[in-house]
Amino acid sequence: MSSVKPRRHGRHGGLPVLLVGALTLALSLTGGPANAAQQATLHELAAAQGKYFGSATDNPELTDAAYADILGSEFGQITPGNSMKWDTTEPVQGQFNFAKGDVITGFAAQHDQTVRGHTLVWHSQLPSWVGALPSTQVEAAMTRHITEEATHYRGAVTAWDVVNEPFNEDGTYRTSPFYNAMGTDYIATALRAAHAADPDAKLYLNDYNIEGLGAKSDAMYALVSELLDEGVPLDGVGMQAHLAVQYGFPYQMQANMQRFADLGLDVAVTELDVRMQLPADAAKTATQSSYYQQVTEACLAVERCVGITVWDYTDKYSWVPSTFPGQGAANLYDENLSPKPAHSAVRTALGGQDGGGGEGGEPGALKAQYRNSDSSVGDNQIKPGLQLVNTGTTPVSLSDVTVRYWFTAGNGAATYNSWCDWSPIGCSTVTHRVVAADTPEAGADHYLEVGFTGGTLAPGATTGEIQLRLNKTDWSLFDESDDYSYGSGTSYADASRIAVYVGGEPVWGIEP
Ligand code: G3I
Repeated sequence: MSSVKPRRHGRHGGLPVLLVGALTLALSLTGGPANAAQQATLHELAAAQGKYFGSATDNPELTDAAYADILGSEFGQITPGNSMKWDTTEPVQGQFNFAKGDVITGFAAQHDQTVRGHTLVWHSQLPSWVGALPSTQVEAAMTRHITEEATHYRGAVTAWDVVNEPFNEDGTYRTSPFYNAMGTDYIATALRAAHAADPDAKLYLNDYNIEGLGAKSDAMYALVSELLDEGVPLDGVGMQAHLAVQYGFPYQMQANMQRFADLGLDVAVTELDVRMQLPADAAKTATQSSYYQQVTEACLAVERCVGITVWDYTDKYSWVPSTFPGQGAANLYDENLSPKPAHSAVRTALGGQDGGGGEGGEPGALKAQYRNSDSSVGDNQIKPGLQLVNTGTTPVSLSDVTVRYWFTAGNGAATYNSWCDWSPIGCSTVTHRVVAADTPEAGADHYLEVGFTGGTLAPGATTGEIQLRLNKTDWSLFDESDDYSYGSGTSYADASRIAVYVGGEPVWGIEP
């Protein structure tokens, strides 16, 4: 099986999927045919859309010349991964050390980059003296720390993560020396102190797992609404976006960003990476690319999303393997500093071209999204939820479209019933049948083939969900756990193991 960035398939007509993958990979690695858009950096592409594209970095890495070269050229914004944190900048009470952070701001100045300051108040990487203070002294120590640091970096840092990770997963407030001493007031106090020290810096609250709608982002939404009502200086919300292939894409990220934007706040994706269980394979790599692409698309779609920062751009310097043993490969470039498919996905989403050029104007630019509507992998039915999205700029005639969802039959009858239970486009327009694969593969000896009797999918439009179901005519059991197209995600997400064909030609997905 080969990893193919599915959106490219449409350009290549009838080329076998595997060959297309090899071609596009080769082209992207060798630079491909020269054209202006192709040479644009990620930041230039983002800047053309009014956003920045940045990366985290750290002092030790800057001594790696090849690394620093890409950091300085491809990215328009950098964030110090560690060097502006409290344990580095005030390891002993009242003794400030900005040497490491100054190296970062110096690099940025040399390369015409902006700097997000990270971070003034955080429960982690906090020197032990802070936690040992009597609670009556914590506010003064916090205010002093913020004042010294934000004053030092005035003019060099354009945005501060003033408070980092204030919430637990369930949306309750995280305890910390600051919370313990001041309750939730520490957040407003910190923002006011930062504003007093640097009135020009954009002030953010930053957290992880607030990218999608959910309890934690609801808590952030309630907090920032209250702060704004009280007139506390606050400019934006940072969504870290430490995503993982195995956990699915955040639920309704764009809508979530938009609700913060609608409060009058900026939104920034501040620490994007997409880790996976190692070893990487084609399917995980395709899902990763799709997540990077979807984050980029969400930011582009929300005017107040000011930009995206990846939490370092290369697997060579990722925080992931040491924190999540067995996981990694989370970044846009591999350990040899070669761009990965996710890099192409971001480029394409930003409107750039790679490999053989962009395919946005191609007819038949469709993608499949899937969710699992079946809580049991071992019962007598398979229930895929499917929706198609037109990612191109021309309408697609649905009667030309077929979709394949691969599964294994197991023992029992060789005849099937299939059903469309519900779809906003009307199940009467959806055709479905089970087909035995000509060349059975592991996890894929049969497929559910879905088609349409008519209708047109406009650019950007989706069919909406199509609730599908199939069973064997003797109602014998399936084992879906090894089915090729099966996924456990219960929210719609791009599905690289479901193939879409227009006029019989593959336009999306990786065949088994
Ligand atoms: O510098 C010391 C080195 O001297 C020592 O030999 C080594 C041995 O452990 O540790 C080094 O410090 C490490 C530091 O990174 C610098 O590499 C720390 O142990 C390590 O814990 C620290 O990890 C950082 C992590 O935050 C700490 O929570 C990561 O680099 C940094 O990328 C990560 O960033 C956080 C964001 O600030 C907030 N959001 C989540 C994100 C990922 O965890």
